[in-house]
Amino acid sequence: MSVPTTMTQTDLAYQQCINPACRATYAVDQTIFACPTCGDLLDVVYDWDRLPVPSRLNEFEAKWSTRLDPLNFSGVWRFRELLPFAPREMVVTVGEGQTLLQSADKVAQYVGMTPGNLKLQYEGMNPSGSFKDNGMTAAFTHARMVGARRVACASTGNTSAALAVYCSATDFGFKAIIFIGSGKIAYGKLAQALDHGALTIQIVGDFDDAMHRVRQVADRLGIYLMNSVNPFRLEGQKTIMYRVLEGLGWEVPDWIVVPGGNLGNSSAFGKAFIELKHLGLIDRVPRLAVINAAGARTLEYLVSEHNLTWRDGLPDMAASQTYYDELDAKHLKASTIASAIEINRPVNLKKCLRALDFCQGVVRQVSDQEIMDAKARVGSGGLGCEPASAASVAGAKKLREEGIIAPSDRVVCILTGHQLKDPTATVAYHGTDQENFEKVLGSRGVHRAGFANRPVVVPNDLDDIIRTIALYSDAGSAGEAGA
Ligand code: F0G
Repeated sequence: MSVPTTMTQTDLAYQQCINPACRATYAVDQTIFACPTCGDLLDVVYDWDRLPVPSRLNEFEAKWSTRLDPLNFSGVWRFRELLPFAPREMVVTVGEGQTLLQSADKVAQYVGMTPGNLKLQYEGMNPSGSFKDNGMTAAFTHARMVGARRVACASTGNTSAALAVYCSATDFGFKAIIFIGSGKIAYGKLAQALDHGALTIQIVGDFDDAMHRVRQVADRLGIYLMNSVNPFRLEGQKTIMYRVLEGLGWEVPDWIVVPGGNLGNSSAFGKAFIELKHLGLIDRVPRLAVINAAGARTLEYLVSEHNLTWRDGLPDMAASQTYYDELDAKHLKASTIASAIEINRPVNLKKCLRALDFCQGVVRQVSDQEIMDAKARVGSGGLGCEPASAASVAGAKKLREEGIIAPSDRVVCILTGHQLKDPTATVAYHGTDQENFEKVLGSRGVHRAGFANRPVVVPNDLDDIIRTIALYSDAGSAGEAGA
């Protein structure tokens, strides 16, 4: 770790501890992943009064016409005036953020919304297949600014895939080191890390164990840390919200619904809205719903059962420590089919509380059954997603049923990762192999595949095949006929 220097008067961007009792500031080119003074999380902060910010959000649209400039092609750097921490010649981009806000009326029907009022933000369309690229482009840019070479993360799979892509697809000498838990990562994601040449360190344990170790290793060896505890990651992830607003013609929706794991995304979304409001670029703020998997429900537990809140930056973190001690004493580990969010110790917990506070947020947990059913409905209703992403749709459905979300509200669910990331869960749900269903899903409390689209086994005979097609195509799909 480099020796921290405090910022100077001329710095337009700097790092600052989020703890109001500390608020220490550090120069933007420091390599620090926690406040060296008090250990709390850091923010990237801007002196907006001295920075050129467009007076209206729709000014960003002009950049579409100059997309041959890689910074205008990127769905992150197109909004660079809203994350102005790097000189443009330092930007590391692989063309991330070409993502889509899509109407999904069949999914809207499933959730119980009026048609047209539910949209899905498809972050799976990023180069590495998940929203992580939004954060990686920003963190790699910072890594380049500080001259880092070795970069590391712990991951449930998508962070590592993104990190591996940014190392292999760019020429700045970055070397990828990733830490994963044993048997805890979906095949699509593991395949990416291996294919892109990352040094892949599999430790006995889960994500929380891997996260603990990678922090120690990064500290000891001076390796640049790419997890979302790195505040520059969150700067990039703010742009998901800018693109959502852009997709809505710069109208603010009523709800943003997002899965919660390490809580980087929800924290970044909150910061995006805090800044947009401060800059007068929006006049109202959407509500935020953060959805935990029931088997990894730290946030939901602490918020709903201990009333943990932001309290102007001084939340009662003793409750979380007691909860973690209890998990340790009982040897309880996070467990969910949504392996991407199988996390019990979310590093951005405090920042997420800030986001919930600013956006009048709510938190819910959804079961693996609810996640898999919602995932099947997302798949049959348009572009697909991985299990963790479907937690957002399952959560929206729950909030709709509770009457918290009204049918006429305008809701955006973030689909964080691509369908092909985790084929194991998908095939187990739709397939006919009961043993496989039990192994992958039954063991996690998923009892039925209510929306399964079963493959139909037919003898290799032309008449049989034609009869089968007639039978099933009359009924619509195999899934409907077989249901
Ligand atoms: N959805 C997907 C597909 C993810 O990969 C993750 C996190 C989340 C949601 C949760 O986002 O952490 O910002 O709350 N994946 C991390 C990883 C932990 O290592 O890939 P969060």
